[in-house]
Order: sequence, then structure tokens, then C-alpha cells
Amino acid sequence: MVQFPAGAATPASIVDALNALTGHPPKARASFAEGRCVRGTYIPSDRASEITRSQSFTKPSRVLARFSVGGGDDRVLRGFSFRLGGEDHRSDMLLQSAPVHFARTPDQMLAYLKVRMPGPGGKPNMKKVKAFSAANPETLHQANYIAALPLPGSLAGTTYWGVHAFPATSSNGETRFIKFKVAPVGADVTPTGDQARPKSADFLYDDLKNRIAKGDVRLNVMALLDRPGDPVMDVTSRWPDEDARETVRLGTIVITGVEADEACDASIFNPATLAEGIAHPPDEIFAARRAAYVISLGKRR
Ligand code: HEM
Repeated sequence: MVQFPAGAATPASIVDALNALTGHPPKARASFAEGRCVRGTYIPSDRASEITRSQSFTKPSRVLARFSVGGGDDRVLRGFSFRLGGEDHRSDMLLQSAPVHFARTPDQMLAYLKVRMPGPGGKPNMKKVKAFSAANPETLHQANYIAALPLPGSLAGTTYWGVHAFPATSSNGETRFIKFKVAPVGADVTPTGDQARPKSADFLYDDLKNRIAKGDVRLNVMALLDRPGDPVMDVTSRWPDEDARETVRLGTIVITGVEADEACDASIFNPATLAEGIAHPPDEIFAARRAAYVISLGKRR
């Protein structure tokens, strides 16, 4: 088994490893570096307050958002980040096109990244990668999920997940765990036949621009409801029967225009920014994210 010193991972060392692995220019994000900034509006559903009293989700607001393409050689993961709510009740939500993360703990994440670093020949040592995967099977859940589905043909027509279990407090003061799922209104765009070849980032951005111009980019913000005994600390595992969960639509995001990239690049979508009514998920990966995004912003300024 590939060994790395236990306890070696810090948010800073993970940001360094992400940057080293993707080889992005210094001003780029450590993860999901390529993307497009957009704007829109959020319209709450009349059931939102049954799930959360967060005014970010119960009141209409403007939205700043960013669709992105994940790093790594295959570039198959998509990202969707959005900021909603007013000055005093702002929330940032960062989602990806898979319902699980590739590591359960920061140590495992650092080890996963390190074992994929290119060696002197410019390629990772596949024997070591395989040995790591065999010893850490949960690190394959994300890749297996993506491989089992056709590659999304449109950034706007893709389903995105918040992955973590978020404690949500309703207007009655009751707290339960939810998972966020953001799904296009209408079906996902899953091309078949010749259309199903991986799309270049430029194809995806043109498609996004055209769909926005036609006014058909609308995404429902859904809450998946917990059941007793759900594994709320493990971001590599879905909840049992997750696709069949009771789901409440919190609201809908309508994307109305493309924004200048600077509007998204000047600051960050920060998973720690959550208005009262949605609390920080309790798992270790979220704890690392709380620091990692600010460190990354500091590095790319
Ligand atoms: C549940 C798992 C995760 C999801 C869904 C996720 C999602 C995202 C998304 C969508 C972005 C792009 C943000 C944007 O559009 O500006 C991003 C960026 C980033 N992520 Fe994650 N991420 C996850 C886990 C992590 C972890 C565990 C770390 C590190 C400990 C991390 C570090 C970063 C960093 C450093 C950036 C760049 C931030 C910046 O410079 O603005 N992510 N992530």
C-alpha cells in the first residue's frame, strides 16, 4: 500500500497539491479553473421555509453564478457555484456533477492527489495509483459514478450536487440534514451516438451562451431529505436509496445573462458563507474546505 504520513494534510498542503497536479497558471483557481461567470435571479418556492428559514433560500434575490469544468486529464467533472441572498443573508453554494467526493478525509485527499503526480517521465506511476485505489476503494466512487453515465452535453443541462449533508433549520425551528441537488428544468442534456463524444470547453461555453440567449437556462434548487441513520460524515457515500428520497424544491434559478469573468474572479464562492438557517456540514472535508478557498484566493491574487 502507498503510505503517506498520517495527519500530514492541511488545507494549505491540499491547495498546493491541487495546483501542482493541474499545473494551472498562478492566477487560476486550484480547482475548476476554467469556467464562465453568469448572472440571474432566484425565485423561492412556497415550500422553502418548511426546510430552511435561511432568507437566502426563502426570499427572491439576484444570483451571481459560475459554470466550470473540473481539472484532471479527463476533465469530465462539471462545477456550478452560485451566490444568492441580500447583503445580510448571503449564501454561496458550490456543487459538482457527481453526488460524491473522491476522498473521505483530508489525509486521503492529499494522498490521492500525490499518488497522481507525474513522475520524471511526465506520467503518474500507474502501479502506485492502482495500489492506492485498491487500498482506498471509496476514492473510486466518484469516477465510477461519472463513468456509468453519458457525459453531459451542456453545462446548463446537467445535474449538480452539493455532496455534503447540510443541517437545515426550518421556520418551525426544526433541524434536519439535507443534501442540495440542482437540476435543470426539463431533462438533463445527455447526447447519444456521435453527439456523445467528449465536448471541448469551447463547445460547452458556446452552448451555454446560446441557451442563455434563448432564455432557457433554469435550474431547480432541490433539498433531498434525510432519514435516520444516514451517513452524514462520509462524502464518498451516497445515502441509501438516495435517488428515491423525498425531495423539496426550495426555488428556481433563472440564468439571464453572461457576466464579465472579473465579477466571479475578483472574489470567491466560499462554501463557508451560509446565512443562518443552513449550517456548516459536520464532516472533515468541509472543515478543510472552510480554509482552503481563502488560501486559494490569496494565492491567485
Ligand atoms: C464536496 C466536495 C467539493 C465540491 C462540490 C467542490 C466544488 C468546487 C467548485 C464548484 C469550485 C469552483 C468555484 C468557482 O466557480 O469559483 C471549487 C473550487 C475550489 N475547490 Fe472545491 N469542491 C469540493 C471539495 C474541495 C476540497 C475538499 C478542497 C480542499 C480541501 C477544495 C478546494 C478548492 C479550491 C482551493 C478551489 C479554488 C477556489 C478559488 O480559488 O476560488 N474543494 N470547488
